[in-house]
Amino acid sequence: MGDRAFLSFKSVINILQISGIFEITRNSEPEVLDMSAITIDFYDSIRDSLDEITNMLHRAYAGLAEMGFNYVAATQSTVVTQKRLTAGIPYVARFDNCIIGTITYYPTAPNDIEEPNYYKNKDVAHFGQFAVSPEMQQRGIGSKLIELVEAHAQLDGKRELACDTAEGVLQLVDYYKRRGYLLIEYHRWPHACYRSIILAKILGPM
Ligand SMILES: CC(C)(COP(=O)(O)OP(=O)(O)OC[C@H]1O[C@@H](n2cnc3c(N)ncnc32)[C@H](O)[C@@H]1OP(=O)(O)O)[C@@H](O)C(=O)NCCC(=O)NCCS
Repeated sequence: MGDRAFLSFKSVINILQISGIFEITRNSEPEVLDMSAITIDFYDSIRDSLDEITNMLHRAYAGLAEMGFNYVAATQSTVVTQKRLTAGIPYVARFDNCIIGTITYYPTAPNDIEEPNYYKNKDVAHFGQFAVSPEMQQRGIGSKLIELVEAHAQLDGKRELACDTAEGVLQLVDYYKRRGYLLIEYHRWPHACYRSIILAKILGPM
């Protein structure tokens, strides 16, 4: 990304910072939280604990694991978290000094036989390792993370942004479809007991 693109990208981050007052239940006691205190920024290896991110991923993906979908993020080690973060451009959402969400943007994919062919197209970026902590879900934070990555891909001049999920998790497939992602192809990850679908969204110019 050139300097000018980076500057406009920082302003995209500012625009996407979440504002408003929301209610959340913690320990069964409703609390009013100021969501403007949520920040989304690039992952920082000094500030952001890999153990904390890994733990948040485990908690977020636990429900999918219980349903029988063995997503890597449900059980991965911190070493795997780091590997998946640093293979792309990772973001973290933070609130009250805690990591409450993450997403990693991958502008390119390695020419690896395990990778979906669609991800290898130079006009296509993708995202992964995407989660919001269970207690902070359903407040628009996931949507903001996706919007941020879409803006990043647009600034990179990508035509499409893609992602993948288990074809059997219909609520996730619908979640992406409601955001303009369309079915492209099927894919088998070697580790997975399920078949994945690749979804992609055509991005407009920035
Ligand atoms: C998928 C995931 C990241 C979505 O995160 P999220 O923060 O809950 O997502 P959002 O809040 O943006 O949207 C979820 C739903 O909450 C509701 N919602 C969104 N904003 C809201 C708000 N401000 N107030 C109340 N409800 C809201 C909406 O119903 C929304 O769904 P819809 O817009 O498609 O109808 C999260 O559910 C998660 O971590 N899941 C486990 C891990 C996972 O599945 N990762 C992806 C694997 S492919």
